[in-house]
Amino acid sequence: MGRFNDLVNDAARASGQHAISKSSTSTLPERDASLLRLNANESAYGPSPKAVAAMWAALESSHFYPDDGAAALRERLAQRHAIKPEQILVANGLTALLGVIARTCLRPGLNAVTSACSFISYPMVTSAVGARLVQTPLRDGGYDLDAILAAMDVETRVVFIANPNNPTGTLIDAVAMDRFLERVPAHVIVVLDEAYFDYASYFAVKRGVTYSRSIEYVRSERNVVVLRTFSKAHGLAGLRIGYGMGPAELMAYFAQVQDVFAVSAIAQAAALAALDDEAHIRHAVEENALQAECIGREVAALDYQVIPTWANFLTFDVKQDARDFARKLRQEGVLVRPLTSWGAPTSIRVTLGTVEQNQFLIRALKK
Ligand SMILES: Cc1ncc(COP(=O)(O)O)c(C=O)c1O
Repeated sequence: MGRFNDLVNDAARASGQHAISKSSTSTLPERDASLLRLNANESAYGPSPKAVAAMWAALESSHFYPDDGAAALRERLAQRHAIKPEQILVANGLTALLGVIARTCLRPGLNAVTSACSFISYPMVTSAVGARLVQTPLRDGGYDLDAILAAMDVETRVVFIANPNNPTGTLIDAVAMDRFLERVPAHVIVVLDEAYFDYASYFAVKRGVTYSRSIEYVRSERNVVVLRTFSKAHGLAGLRIGYGMGPAELMAYFAQVQDVFAVSAIAQAAALAALDDEAHIRHAVEENALQAECIGREVAALDYQVIPTWANFLTFDVKQDARDFARKLRQEGVLVRPLTSWGAPTSIRVTLGTVEQNQFLIRALKK
């Protein structure tokens, strides 16, 4: 037991320690340029050249603090979604915003509810504030909304729903979500994490499914917070920028809890420019859908069971120890995510890359 065990607060002690690597991240094997990174659901198509130009321009003013309220970006997002700027909070990535939500709404004695096999940050932000996370089992490989409703009690304040879900890649359609929200009690805030919104919207049109009416929930000030990020289709994961949309009063509480100057001026400038580069996003989602189909077919032909995806990754059962499998793929030069820690010890998650990257992956899988 360490010297600080009695000094840190109860929530930090219960959460445990996170080992910070001794080496600089630039020397970690994951950063090795010779390895193909298909383990973090980043965009294979990079940032928009317009966003890169906006970043260079913003660098000149780096001696100024950023606009704490990200007014220009909020204004633009408000126009785009036909909501009020006060209903939007820009954050340094959704992971940070999830922490803000937990710090604002949860505390010891309260709980949050989510599904098993969902986004890794939900347990982290919940335990960091000393609250309890209830995880319901998967149904048909995705979220079981009935089980989530049944798991809520008087101490529940937050429900986290990743739609599409990471790492299963599954979707909850708008009809199921409407029905769910009708039954959520008034003391619970539903966080709809739509990190993969652009990919899912594109798939939904192609597949004739109504994906999400989340912005309508925001317009009618329901107890819903919708999360979107610039880390995925916009290709800005390294900058850390995303946003939440919800009731103005609740967003104002979140703004108070968020760190001052949380979002850099460079990130704000890049996000504004990225939003306008619709051709770049279209290219990313169209290519992604093509690759999902192609690679899905090739992986299935290797006799692995693939879950149809609504996002920029494929999850499949490799019918053997996933960690060993990932280690072998790494020896072939490809990084993928084994899902052992998610309770799926024989499944891996692979980010969809470019045609060339995916062909490299298939060759490695065949070996
Ligand atoms: C469901 C989900 N939510 C949020 C995030 C994190 O988003 P950000 O990069 O904005 O922190 C991810 C990233 O993989 C994700 O899969």
